[in-house]
Amino acid sequence: MRPFEPADADAYLRLATAILGEPITHWYLVRLIPTLVPGSPLVIEHGASGLPVATGAARPLPGTAPRACTPPVELVNVGVAPAHRRRGLARAVCGAVVARLLTEGFLDIRVAPERDNSAARALYRGLGFREPR
Ligand SMILES: CC(C)(COP(=O)(O)OP(=O)(O)OC[C@H]1O[C@@H](n2cnc3c(N)ncnc32)[C@H](O)[C@@H]1OP(=O)(O)O)[C@@H](O)C(=O)NCCC(=O)NCCS
Repeated sequence: MRPFEPADADAYLRLATAILGEPITHWYLVRLIPTLVPGSPLVIEHGASGLPVATGAARPLPGTAPRACTPPVELVNVGVAPAHRRRGLARAVCGAVVARLLTEGFLDIRVAPERDNSAARALYRGLGFREPR
């Protein structure tokens, strides 16, 4: 597992296209990367090909945190290539993103899966995230 590098751009876009099931352009990355916390996104490479097959990132939420505090952050761009799912890659990449965030002092970490995304909801529940009361 390692941080995204500019040389990953084409392979990362192919991964995002496979995850989302629709064509993703370079503009997506150009807009995305500056919104993420430094060191995001993380990628997991496929051992044989060296291509990224899983990714996860974090983005500060525009918020109301006092200036001295770290802002709330949200996990974003969590996804795994369809052929590599159910092998623990999302759990691994999300765990690594969360570990980095905690090391860097981010304490308010959130996720926002769609209500009908039962796979993502189960993933986040398993990682210890709780539904807001
Ligand atoms: C959701 C997603 C990231 C899971 O990736 P993954 O690598 O298959 O997940 P993992 O193998 O790490 O699974 C971890 C846990 O998540 C849950 N989970 C994952 N896929 C699941 C599925 N299809 N149905 C139910 N639970 C699922 C399980 O609790 C699983 O633990 P288990 O295998 O011990 O039962 C993947 O399906 C994906 O890329 N989906 C499309 C993009 C997306 O929805 N991203 C999340 C946006 S919020």
